[in-house]
Amino acid sequence: MKALVLSGGMGLRLRPFSHSAPKQLIPLANKPVLVHVIEELRAMEVTEIGIVVGDRPEKIEEVLGDGSGLGVRITYIRQEAPRGLAHCVAIARDFLADDDFVMYLGDNVLTSGVTDMAKEFRATRPAAQVVVHKVADPRAFGVAEVDDDGRVIRLVEKPEQPVSDLAVVGVYFFTPAIHEAVTAIEASARGELEITDAIQWLVTQGAEVTARTYTGFWKDAGRVDDVLECNRELLDRLKASVHGDVDGESELIGGVVIEEGARIVRSRIIGPVVVGADAVVEDSSIGPHTAIGRGCLLRDAEVSNTIVLEGASVQGVGAVHASVIGREASVTSAPADGAAHRLIVGDHARVEVAA
Ligand code: G1P
Repeated sequence: MKALVLSGGMGLRLRPFSHSAPKQLIPLANKPVLVHVIEELRAMEVTEIGIVVGDRPEKIEEVLGDGSGLGVRITYIRQEAPRGLAHCVAIARDFLADDDFVMYLGDNVLTSGVTDMAKEFRATRPAAQVVVHKVADPRAFGVAEVDDDGRVIRLVEKPEQPVSDLAVVGVYFFTPAIHEAVTAIEASARGELEITDAIQWLVTQGAEVTARTYTGFWKDAGRVDDVLECNRELLDRLKASVHGDVDGESELIGGVVIEEGARIVRSRIIGPVVVGADAVVEDSSIGPHTAIGRGCLLRDAEVSNTIVLEGASVQGVGAVHASVIGREASVTSAPADGAAHRLIVGDHARVEVAA
């Protein structure tokens, strides 16, 4: 079985972070979302991976390369414009050939994994197998109507009046039967070739389409609050380990990972927390649920439930909470004589200041 990972799209909901890199590279517990996806594919014993990339493909290639560092082989497939998930399948036709494949949306986070479902698909080989998850409000997703035997009766993309509470998760298993389907459908009202319509086409043709229910944590890391939630979930699963340097005046509590070359000085770290390689934390209180990227500097800082990206610094600032601080960004207290806030904030950024 091969894999097709979809990593195009504009990432508008994740601005300003998507200005400098595709949204699928936002780090969760210090690893890009795409790396979590590839690790999950490896757990399914899938190593032949096609990645559909949009603009700035070089950013993704910089991080993943040919995949050998992650034990997989990556083929990049360029999508000129975001024209839908079924369009991605169509342009990946040569790569996929006549193999079965799992299609994984590159911003989906499923912390409990779907390896059992992959096993079942390999054994039973229905034309398509979708993964569904019960949600309170399914209107933002594909929605599945499923019979008692787990067969899909109907699929509708983002219905105003959902027929069930089963949202379609961004992981799909396909046999080559899907290729005829993606060429048979037409663009939806939002101008995209919807994978939901292609799967529905298979259902209408009488092909066997099954649904399996996933009950663990699932989120598409599309907005900042979702990214923070995914970060918390993944941090909760980290095993404590210390590779960097922690001085005698510091205290580590709970699940704390200190990566190689990081230095913790006179600080209190309340897990789950990860401090990235070569970062320095001095006279600070960090955590819980905080990921500090590689090479960051935190001095006299108090930070919790936050992601600090590579090379950023926070100095002399307390009570930083539920925040995402971009690469190389700097957050400091005003000079002693400064009574005002001074903000040099990038496009589409958002600042909430305690009055
Ligand atoms: C896509 C699919 C939708 C699915 C969702 C899962 O939606 O079209 O059926 O439920 O991913 O993340 P999109 O993110 O393109 O709006």
